[in-house]
Amino acid sequence: MPTVAIAPSILSADFGRLAEEIIAVEEAGADLIHIDVMDGHFVPNITIGPLIVEAVKKVAKTPLDVHLMIANPGQYIDAFADAGANWITVHTEAGPHPHRLVGQIRARGCRPGVVLNPATPLAALDYLLDEVDLVMLMSVNPGFGGQKFIESSLRKIAALRRTASECGLQLDIEVDGGISPATIARIAAAGANIFVAGSAVYGSDDYRATITSLRLRAEAAIAGKEEAI
Ligand code: DX5
Ligand code: ZN
Repeated sequence: MPTVAIAPSILSADFGRLAEEIIAVEEAGADLIHIDVMDGHFVPNITIGPLIVEAVKKVAKTPLDVHLMIANPGQYIDAFADAGANWITVHTEAGPHPHRLVGQIRARGCRPGVVLNPATPLAALDYLLDEVDLVMLMSVNPGFGGQKFIESSLRKIAALRRTASECGLQLDIEVDGGISPATIARIAAAGANIFVAGSAVYGSDDYRATITSLRLRAEAAIAGKEEAI
């Protein structure tokens, strides 16, 4: 069974109490901390830079999963690696050289991944799949937390898992956007194993109960699917 990981996105955390909010989700069972970096160009919102990642690194015990939603990502990879990013994901839509960016990330000792927006076809991965450790599929249009899961993502996840299996790749498939206890089972059954959840975790009263529920539902969906094969 692919390893299930739950990655709370701090985009929905209380930024006035950011350190506490990170410790709280880690104590509640988070596997990764997902950090949404937005620049107001690639997406219509501005959020976090390397300075905040550096501050997060001082309190986080789990790996930092840094999602770059910025123009010219190549210009900032070193800064985010220096700040303590462990995983760095870049959008294929952010420029003409995703292959080069993946190499840049790996050269800095970080785990590289590429991200596709909801309307970007999987063909964008044809000559990248061998190079990356993970692929993240956006299941909302990037820019904001709390949006509704886009249903067509399910067949995209399933098609990517099929391709990865056919190529003999143990690919991590991460999904970002609209994940909650109500949607996660179908996303896991389709083939994802890493789940970003912002508003579902930080908007809940009990972080541990929510993260546990997300994990159990994902694991049950994956196990059920394997039994059926
Ligand atoms: C959207 C971000 C997501 C976002 C997810 O651009 O990449 O990580 O925080 O938020 P929810 O889980 O609320 O859809
Ligand atoms: Zn994200």
